[in-house]
Amino acid sequence: MKYCPQCNQTFSYTSICCSTDSSPLIDYDIREYIDQTIDGKYLIKKFLGVGGMGVVFLAHHNEDVALKLLHPNLASDKEFVARFLREIKITSKINHPNAIKIIDFGYTNKQVYYVMEYIEGYTLADLIEQKGRINLEETANIIYQVCLVLENAHKQKIIHRDIKPTNILIQKNTENKQMIKVIDFGIAKAVATGEDSGSSSGGISSLRTSPGTIQGTVAYMSPEQCRCTTIDFRSDIYSLGIVVFQMLTGHHPYDALTAAEMAMHHLMSEPPKFNSFVDDIPKQVELVVERTLNKEPDLRFNSAKEFAEELEKAIGIQRYSILNQTNTPTKPSENQPSKATNYEPRKKTQNNEIIISSTSPYVKRSIAFLLLLLICFLIFIIKRIL
Ligand SMILES: Nc1ncnc2c1ncn2[C@@H]1O[C@H](COP(=O)(O)OP(=O)(O)OP(=O)(O)O)[C@@H](O)[C@H]1O
Ligand SMILES: [Mg+2]
Repeated sequence: MKYCPQCNQTFSYTSICCSTDSSPLIDYDIREYIDQTIDGKYLIKKFLGVGGMGVVFLAHHNEDVALKLLHPNLASDKEFVARFLREIKITSKINHPNAIKIIDFGYTNKQVYYVMEYIEGYTLADLIEQKGRINLEETANIIYQVCLVLENAHKQKIIHRDIKPTNILIQKNTENKQMIKVIDFGIAKAVATGEDSGSSSGGISSLRTSPGTIQGTVAYMSPEQCRCTTIDFRSDIYSLGIVVFQMLTGHHPYDALTAAEMAMHHLMSEPPKFNSFVDDIPKQVELVVERTLNKEPDLRFNSAKEFAEELEKAIGIQRYSILNQTNTPTKPSENQPSKATNYEPRKKTQNNEIIISSTSPYVKRSIAFLLLLLICFLIFIIKRIL
């Protein structure tokens, strides 16, 4: 028997996904964990979500925390557990406001878990689902914060390896601003099989996905991850490029029914033009996203910082804060339409951290055009006078 952790329906052992909410099915009933204590300290309060690797619960120990309990089949593999604990130890060292804080981790009673700060909010996947598309300003604001933390991690030679909308949490703070928290840093490395400790291959087992959906990891994997060759930080930039494509167009660039088909697209297919889906994204923005999706890592951006800067330049955003500072920007506009349609550059006066620059390419072009008209008009007048 299999269980849907989301709606608690039961299914036959051969089922993979819930027919009602598409959640991946698991072979244990998560309700058994509620009110249980893990490792003698974490009291499980409620179910938060499920992924390919484990179930996330709201738990309590001195404070509310999010506890991810790995699926028992993973926890029974000793080599995996050792690798996992090693990776989590490394990635828990990332100390950045846009990275989720890892509070604790452990292996007890054949259970592997790790504990993170609890984020009250939603995932980027939820936001895309709710809005359909994300407008340029909000996209820039979210991606800027993701790039801040990637830049920080990449400088420490840590690659995320699993950038996707479900690993980007959006927390609403007291001022109702969007604060991004990237989760699951480097965890995909532990899931990758057949790699020695020094290798940095993407690992084909990271091709975990849910049939019938493109939510799974493979949908955001770089060509080099699909090929299981050595990867570096530019793999994260590719994955983030897929995320940006999806945010702006409301569509994943590739359509596939199976993980293998999706991997083939990453390896072989040219990404579609934005105008196959929408017609209101500036060409400059499309060119930036296209560059991140290059099959050849050398032709992508040289850093997450460069990607963020070029994206913001193309959108026409100028910040007072620069990328190597840690203060994060805020969402420029709360009352956005549910399907973003207004992509006009707008100047924000309330918030100094993000403004649509008056030197944006569109404004520049308009000014040049008006000047040209003025000159023609003056020539015409002068000729008439003479
Ligand atoms: N720190 C957290 N605070 C609050 N909710 C969280 C936290 N971490 C995860 N969640 C919730 O748990 C859900 C499942 O997260 P999880 O990372 O397991 O899913 P996934 O990214 O789809 O799968 P995987 O990471 O295994 O590839 C998330 O979608 C989110 O709703
Ligand atoms: Mg995750």
